[in-house]
Order: sequence, then C-alpha cells, then structure tokens
Amino acid sequence: MNMKKIAAEHAVQYIEDGMKVGLGTGSTAYWAIQKLGQRVQEGLSIQAVATSIASEKLALELGIPIIPFAELNGLNVTIDGADEVNPELHLIKGGGGALLREKIVAYHSEKLIIIADESKWVPTLGQFPLPVEIIPFAVEWTVQSLEQLGCKVQLRTEGEQIFITDNQNYIADCSFGTIPSPLKLHNDILSIPGIVDNGLFIGLADQVIIGHKDGSVEIM
Ligand code: 5RP
Repeated sequence: MNMKKIAAEHAVQYIEDGMKVGLGTGSTAYWAIQKLGQRVQEGLSIQAVATSIASEKLALELGIPIIPFAELNGLNVTIDGADEVNPELHLIKGGGGALLREKIVAYHSEKLIIIADESKWVPTLGQFPLPVEIIPFAVEWTVQSLEQLGCKVQLRTEGEQIFITDNQNYIADCSFGTIPSPLKLHNDILSIPGIVDNGLFIGLADQVIIGHKDGSVEIM
C-alpha cells in the first residue's frame, strides 16, 4: 500500500467546485496534485497556487489552473505534506526545501490539511533535522548562531553543490534530537538576523490525514 497516496487521495475528496486551493510540495503532495489534476480533467473547476516551482510545473502539466497571487484574496484550503507531526498538530516541514513558500501559502489559507504516511506521526518533534532557510550573506555567522541554540547544523547540499531554494537561499538542517518547546524554539530562531524562516509550523495545521500500511486513513 502506498500510504502517501492513500492520504493524499483522501484529502482531495474535500476539494469542491469553485475552491481556491494551495498545492503543497514533496512526494506526498505529488499524489494530491495528481489526483486534483485527474479531477480537473473530469470537470472540477478550481483556482490554484503552488508552494514550489516543481509543484507549479506539475500542476500546469496536469491542466490545473495556476492563478497569480494578486488575483486571489487568500485560499480556501491548502493540502501539503510534513516531515513530522505531533499530537498538537505542530509540524516540522521543509524536507523538500520549500518551507518558506509553504508557510506563506498556509498562513493565507482558511484550512491547512496535512497529508502524511504513518511514519511522520511522532510524540515529540525534533528527530527529523529542522530545516531553516537562511540568506547566503555571512552564512558562517548565521550557522554559528543556530549552533548556539543547541543543535548540530548541516548546510544542505545537492550533489557537490550547496542546495539553493526557489527563493535563492540556503537551507541549514538543524539536528536538535528533541524539541520540547516548539514555539520558543521557533521564536528564538527567528530572532537571528539572516534567517528567513524555519520549518516549525505552529498552530497552522487544521487537519492531519495519516495513511496507514493496511490502507486505512486516520484523521486528526
Ligand atoms: C517540502 C515539505 C514536504 O511537505 C515534507 O518534506 C514532506 O515530504 P514528503 O511528502 O516527500 O515526505 O515540507 O518542503
């Protein structure tokens, strides 16, 4: 059973004619975009924005209308994946490097539906290294400041090169091991100059749909 696909296809059932929809990024969101594309080809009428260049390209290939932000006054719903989800529905996101656009789009959505396989459900956040988007200027100093918060920092690479986000920034993957106070850490990270945003999504998710190995979905 493809747990990501099951969760994604369940979420797409909630999309109705006329909705303004945010499209997430990653291998789970991929299945949601595929299913939405199928529904659009069958006659569903939606307007969409995407959280990454990759998701926008996929959506356009499938015939999903991508609308300029200036023409939409917010969104009804966004469907996106996550790297970790805790029982308060706080998230770690950014494994795919799209956390900044994902957070902007989530913030402007009436509803954020998170889709994930069962491995993403955790009692406490922090096992997954927290992605932090940082500007390239003085990156060494920004990394030092992050380390002072108690994590080990790995600047993300892609092959031999430094990974560059859609916004032309870097990603610092910060291993904390455990994050007992996500909101405090979120605010501490944002107080460091040079940091654009981090992958802690606090209080943004409205619903989480987990796909299980046996083909069932669980809705939180
Ligand atoms: C991308 C993300 C993804 O939603 C997150 O990394 C989960 O990815 P996947 O669905 O491939 O497991 O935040 O920036």
